[in-house]
Amino acid sequence: MNNSFGNNIILTVFGASHGECVGCTLRGLPKGLPVDESVINHYLALRRPEGDISTSRREPDAFVIESGVNGGFTDGGEIRITIPNVDARPADYAKTKGLARPSHADYTRFVKYGGLSSGGGLFSGRSTAALCAAGALLTPYLNSKGVFIGTHIKNIAGVCDRDFGDHKKDINALYRKKFAVLDKAAGQEMKNRILAAKAEGDSVGGILETAVIGLTPGLGEPYFDSLESLLSHALFSIPGVKGVEFGAGFRFAGMRGGEANDPFACENGRVITLTNNSGGINGGISNGMPVVFRCALRPTPTIAKPQKTVDLETKENAVTEAAGRHDPCFVHRARAVVDCLTAFVLADLYLGG
Ligand SMILES: Cc1cc2nc3c(=O)[nH]c(=O)nc-3n(C[C@H](O)[C@H](O)[C@H](O)COP(=O)(O)O)c2cc1C
Repeated sequence: MNNSFGNNIILTVFGASHGECVGCTLRGLPKGLPVDESVINHYLALRRPEGDISTSRREPDAFVIESGVNGGFTDGGEIRITIPNVDARPADYAKTKGLARPSHADYTRFVKYGGLSSGGGLFSGRSTAALCAAGALLTPYLNSKGVFIGTHIKNIAGVCDRDFGDHKKDINALYRKKFAVLDKAAGQEMKNRILAAKAEGDSVGGILETAVIGLTPGLGEPYFDSLESLLSHALFSIPGVKGVEFGAGFRFAGMRGGEANDPFACENGRVITLTNNSGGINGGISNGMPVVFRCALRPTPTIAKPQKTVDLETKENAVTEAAGRHDPCFVHRARAVVDCLTAFVLADLYLGG
């Protein structure tokens, strides 16, 4: 299994949803970077389920930094973070054992690695707590470089939030928001749609929109290590992310050049663009404008409605319904994961000089 990522820092994720713990290692960090556990706790709290719109599983995410940090600073060695699972219930999956949940990773995991797991194992959304911890550990370093990241829920079940306005103000406001919307009324309607789907034993998906401000122009390489490639590599690693677009993204297809191009201007000796359809990236390299991208997230695959499937052991057709506890929507929870993995990619680039 190859589940490591990064160039200068290597992030590896491990564990299982209904096992002892989930966790990660970070290799390649220099000695002396400040580590602020309160920032890790902050992002883990943003990701944590709460209320009726999320799973009823309650994990305190009492993470332990087992190595690589000494006296609040990285010591140059491998950082290993474990997050114990204290509310795992593998027995919940006994009655659906062998029944592949449609559109979850049960079938592909079985084909590739064999055996049956209780719940999603490493493929579960639970593992994203570890991704959050890794990226959150690097966030103060990025902030010290003047880089700030903010993600809002652009859309859930067809209900839209307002667009980013003043990026700096909006990113600041989003930092503390558990349900990250810019328009409160839209947020309430999104919650209503989640609850309506849940009442029918169903689930909904949506779109997260992220802005990164303060990035130095010149980050990223042409072609394979373009900033878009590196970010989308990380973003597509988040379970349930099925689309990523930068700037005007798929809307470019319907635009003319005169509308799509971002004219340049000089402002206080700094080159800026007057529009930002390119999402802050040209030729794979940051141009100094906010980097803006969107992730499309699928509706939660595990639903209470009966669905056709196969029994992986007997190879017979079957019908399955949700076992275990699940999110009727995970868009709002994935927001912290997007912020943190974005932080990882950008810190990896900054540390590469
Ligand atoms: C924070 C988070 C929570 C999730 N919660 C659930 C869940 O409760 N039930 C579920 O079936 N899938 C959940 N998922 C999505 C699945 O893990 C994902 O759809 C599955 O691994 C298959 O991957 P794919 O959708 O990328 O193909 C969650 C994902 C994230 C990021």
